[in-house]
Amino acid sequence: MTWYAGADLLVVGTGVAGLTAALRARERGLRVLVVSKEAAGVGNTEWAQGGIAVVRSEECDPSDSVRQHVRDTLEAGAGLCSTSAVRTILGDGAAAVRRLCEAGARFDGEASGALSRTREGGHSAFRVIHAGGDATGAEVQRALVEAGTEVGIPILENHCVVELSHTEWGSVGGALVLDHAGRPGVVQAPAVLLATGGLGQLYRATTNPEVATGDGVALGLRAGAAVADLEFVQFHPTVLHTSATERGSRPLITEAVRGEGAVLLDSRGEPVMAGRHPMGDLAPRDVVAAAINEKLAETGSESVYLDATGLGDGFVARFPTVYTACRDAGIDPLVEPIPVTTAAHYSCGGIMCDVDGRTGVTGLYVAGEVARTGLHGANRLASNSLLEGLVLGTRSADAALRDLRSGSLRRGSVVTERPPAAAVVERSRLQRLMSGYAGIGRHADGLRQAKSGLDAAAVVRPLRSRSEVEDAALGLTAHALLAAAADRTESRGCHRRYDHPDTDDLRWGRPNPLRLDVSGW
Ligand code: SIN
Repeated sequence: MTWYAGADLLVVGTGVAGLTAALRARERGLRVLVVSKEAAGVGNTEWAQGGIAVVRSEECDPSDSVRQHVRDTLEAGAGLCSTSAVRTILGDGAAAVRRLCEAGARFDGEASGALSRTREGGHSAFRVIHAGGDATGAEVQRALVEAGTEVGIPILENHCVVELSHTEWGSVGGALVLDHAGRPGVVQAPAVLLATGGLGQLYRATTNPEVATGDGVALGLRAGAAVADLEFVQFHPTVLHTSATERGSRPLITEAVRGEGAVLLDSRGEPVMAGRHPMGDLAPRDVVAAAINEKLAETGSESVYLDATGLGDGFVARFPTVYTACRDAGIDPLVEPIPVTTAAHYSCGGIMCDVDGRTGVTGLYVAGEVARTGLHGANRLASNSLLEGLVLGTRSADAALRDLRSGSLRRGSVVTERPPAAAVVERSRLQRLMSGYAGIGRHADGLRQAKSGLDAAAVVRPLRSRSEVEDAALGLTAHALLAAAADRTESRGCHRRYDHPDTDDLRWGRPNPLRLDVSGW
């Protein structure tokens, strides 16, 4: 057993939320240690394309406002957002972006004195800032990794967290980790921040990288934290569909392409969004994804088409990532429509927390995609997630500092030498079940079938390697998601039930924390 140097704050994850928190904690004088499953910065953040939705009053369209951004977010969230969380997080957005710029991030248009802004689905104004055209996440990640290196934040790369340890008083006391060779180690810390990102690998086709295996949801559940809104998995309407990109992580075609004027057509050349929503091709994402799926069922085709030919040669400079992905697949978006389909993209739910990232477990904080703050409700508004990661990263580090200073956190974890055991399900089987029965359209029978399929395939084994830890996390997260989806007998936002097509505000129009029995998982 390796004993790593202890820290005041242990941060798990090196995306936008984790590194923002680590930088803030360091700046405030905390001893911070960061753990990363791979090299620092590998994850969803660096793949983000569209941008960061933020209203900075001094340079925005004068008709836009934080209040309008709040309205759009609540509208997209389909009645399940926490209005106070939305106001707080979006209200803190401009300051969070300013700090990110101070850390070294550069956005398009900066040189001309006003940042360039685009629109995405559900936004009533041009308020999404971007970098490198469509490489916003890569720039955010670069800036944060470099800033962390500059101030010497220690990062344990290629280490995964197996479980959180606790103190004899019941609070969180650190984590048990495995290095790349499966050797166990202990990090003691009275405050632990989970910033582990998403869970797209629950599905066969996703925009997420391979590290997005629901680790934080599983760690939080095992530590006794509550989860909510896990049934709201957002499917992105437009990922590249070719024979080479049918499964696994798929190239994203950013919604900003539609923001700049591209339109969705079905295989007969008819507009997909005609008559479906007043915002047309820029309707909220759940509406567009559901419309695409209906078109696919109606036409029997495997994809619809995104016609961006009207954008002209400027497309190459504005969307270099998308252009390269298309060309690599043999498609020229300047002259032909891009075949696209839907894929799992973002978890709107997660570990329940307040707007400072505090969970119900003393010493445990969450930030970023793993956190369920109430910002997203039943459907996240595009490009609100990098912003949430920035804001919650800062706020959770500040909260940990306050809690340490007030003496409410205790040091000293109880450590067991033996690796924990958990139920593991073979990954491709799990992905088949989740994609088949818990995708965009759901039904009680299918959800039951998925659950019994998971139960039948689960094998309990000691977690001695990263892949076993990930498979166990996927198993428990799938179990929780299926329970939440079966429970919610209505359709709302990203959760569509064929057997309950209506929205039932009376029964389901408020937060629904999931109490899950994790024994056996
Ligand atoms: C996109 O660029 O379409 C994705 C942005 C997001 O998911 O917020």
